[in-house]
Amino acid sequence: MTAKILDGKAIAAEIRGDIKTRVAALRDAGQRPPGLAVVLIGEDPASQVYVRNKDKACTEVGFHSEIHRLPTTTSQTELLALVDRLNADPKIDGILVQLPLPPQIDAEAVIERIDPAKDVDGFHPYNVGRLVLRMPKLRSCTPKGVMTLLARTGQGLEGLDAVVIGQSNIVGRPMALELLAARCSITVCHSRTKDLAAKARGADLLVVAIGRAEFVPGDWIKEGAIVIDVGMNRNAAGRLVGDVDFAACAERAAWITPVPGGVGPMTIASLLENTLEARGA
Ligand code: GUN
Repeated sequence: MTAKILDGKAIAAEIRGDIKTRVAALRDAGQRPPGLAVVLIGEDPASQVYVRNKDKACTEVGFHSEIHRLPTTTSQTELLALVDRLNADPKIDGILVQLPLPPQIDAEAVIERIDPAKDVDGFHPYNVGRLVLRMPKLRSCTPKGVMTLLARTGQGLEGLDAVVIGQSNIVGRPMALELLAARCSITVCHSRTKDLAAKARGADLLVVAIGRAEFVPGDWIKEGAIVIDVGMNRNAAGRLVGDVDFAACAERAAWITPVPGGVGPMTIASLLENTLEARGA
């Protein structure tokens, strides 16, 4: 089998186009656009790129977008005060505090301080709990984007054996909850998992989010499986690659996401959807 490509770049562009139309309709009706505030602390180069891309995407669809850049030395008290101000700001529908945060700041406390109705990352315990109970409100952006991609296969997910490699709060855990809500049987694998290869080989649907370049070889893929690659790494040659060996896995999978141009653009599309949803539009 040679896999069909799940083209996240094209699907995300469609979603952004649709959102742009809806924002234009809001403005035409004399209503304010959705507003996103991104908080960036320190100089982490990857975070700088992510935040710039989020801001650009917001501006392109007509959202109000503001970036709050704070020094690495920012205290917990100062950051919480900013979150309080943004919670109370009527121009702002969504608040995103870019992770990771410097060590003097307790990330959990900051996330809990965000109004759950403005938590467009879907990281607040309230929003995670809603997903656990299959009553989602704001859903984490990357897993939500993956679910949108999976819907485009036209293949039902009910009853599939889904394996998620990675258990982070940002991707692995909410991804597993999304797939459980879609009535998959789920296995979540991590660094202590025994015989990862055997578990991967049993997967009808494999989602890989561990941040190791081309970690999953072709012979871990069940013939006809759906392979979702959340990774974004530089390999030894400096090329941008995912967590799976794309060429080898594509020979066996039915569907696969490329890197770049797969899950990455969907994360930003989901953030825009969440901000529009938080606006109540
Ligand atoms: N750092 C890496 N990914 C993310 C994300 O999706 N949201 C936030 N807030 N920080 C991140």
